[in-house]
Amino acid sequence: MERVVSLCKRRGFIFQSAEIYGGFRSTYDYGPLGVNLLRNVKNAWWEAMVQRRVDVVGLDAAVLSPPAVWEASGHLSNFTDPLVDCLSCHQRWREDKIDGACPNCGSTEFTEARAFNLLFETHAGPLEDEGTVAYLRPETAQGMFVNFANVLQTTRKRPPFGIAQVGKSFRNEITPQNFVFRTREFEQMEMEYFVPPGEADRWFKYWLDERYRWYTDLGIPTEQLRLRHHDRDELSHYSVATADVEFNFPWGWDELEGIANRSDFDLKAHSAASGEKLEYFDQTGGEPYVPWVIEPAAGATRAMMAFLLSAYREDEVGGEARTVLKLHPRLAPYQVAVLPLSRKEALEGLSNDVLDRLVPHFACDYDVTQSIGKRYRRQDEVGTPWCVTVDFDSLEDRRVTVRDRDSTEQVRLDLDAVAGELSRRMGRL
Ligand code: GAP
Repeated sequence: MERVVSLCKRRGFIFQSAEIYGGFRSTYDYGPLGVNLLRNVKNAWWEAMVQRRVDVVGLDAAVLSPPAVWEASGHLSNFTDPLVDCLSCHQRWREDKIDGACPNCGSTEFTEARAFNLLFETHAGPLEDEGTVAYLRPETAQGMFVNFANVLQTTRKRPPFGIAQVGKSFRNEITPQNFVFRTREFEQMEMEYFVPPGEADRWFKYWLDERYRWYTDLGIPTEQLRLRHHDRDELSHYSVATADVEFNFPWGWDELEGIANRSDFDLKAHSAASGEKLEYFDQTGGEPYVPWVIEPAAGATRAMMAFLLSAYREDEVGGEARTVLKLHPRLAPYQVAVLPLSRKEALEGLSNDVLDRLVPHFACDYDVTQSIGKRYRRQDEVGTPWCVTVDFDSLEDRRVTVRDRDSTEQVRLDLDAVAGELSRRMGRL
């Protein structure tokens, strides 16, 4: 864990927020490499969940929302964690996360637990009175429920169909911890899949399989991933069944994503509170009904951390130690690095030519500093799957060396063939 955190800082994946002012606790900024990786995670999710499906459409709802939404959803009354104070060192903890002893001083004496609401409250406009209260959304899901009728009318979808969204959510977590695993500001990738009530069980199982496979397809080994069904007493107020996709983090198995059967709880709650009919009516006959919802709810920032942890390796190449991120090429911040052997003008000219052919297809880096061996190590460390080296022979024969990150195997290719060969390698994955 420490090594991955240190790599993230050193190589520009993740920085402490407001670091020059001493840092803002448990808040992070995504640097040049992190923003690429995070974007690739979100794109891979969007592609699998929206782009490749005709039964799912996208949405981008507002982060700021009025209290009515969170009143109806149950968040104003139920979205709480049990907060206790250690009677010895006065640190505050989430009671359900500490196993009876204070993680700071070991004391077992605490105050009574009180319910702490995690919603971030703010005021919209210049007046700070009760009428201007607004909330930063703690999940993207409610945006999909309150837009159910809009989406139904404008897309003419019929159940089973889904509405998907990727975006920031905010929770005033009592104990944000484990780097970007639990933060107060984070990104979610959620999809609400509306189904006829009698089909809910089938779709719940379907989405468990789909979501598990999404992580393994992107390189997380099955030994590090499991599905865990919630016991009845663990279920959220809206859920009739939930299973988590869990990853084996350095501190043990923990949640990556929750897949819930939310029944008709949300549509009924918003319908009752708003007075709007939120149901599906099949024009070709049949009774109107309120669809049930199956929700795969993932964290983008948390998934990015799991991809980093599972990709991190220390191995040896030619008797030399190296650090390598074996990220799936679709997720890697850069897919290709173009490396001219030296700063000679002719080599840089040809290298730019190579770069021009690759940038329409791949995220590329370009590096001319230090020895070629050191540059390979630097690219390995940030997970770049392929390096393309342009040397003096390249000027004569217009062939370049393509090096593979995982096998370190090198092949010599005509520079016209490089983009095609790398696309072929990507396509095979
Ligand atoms: N709409 C349902 C929902 O929000 P959740 O289990 O509370 O369910 C879904 O959140 C996912 O969002 C989690 O599995 C996790 O990946 C991510 N997540 C939740 N709280 C988070 C936090 N404080 N920091 C980072 N990710 C978080």
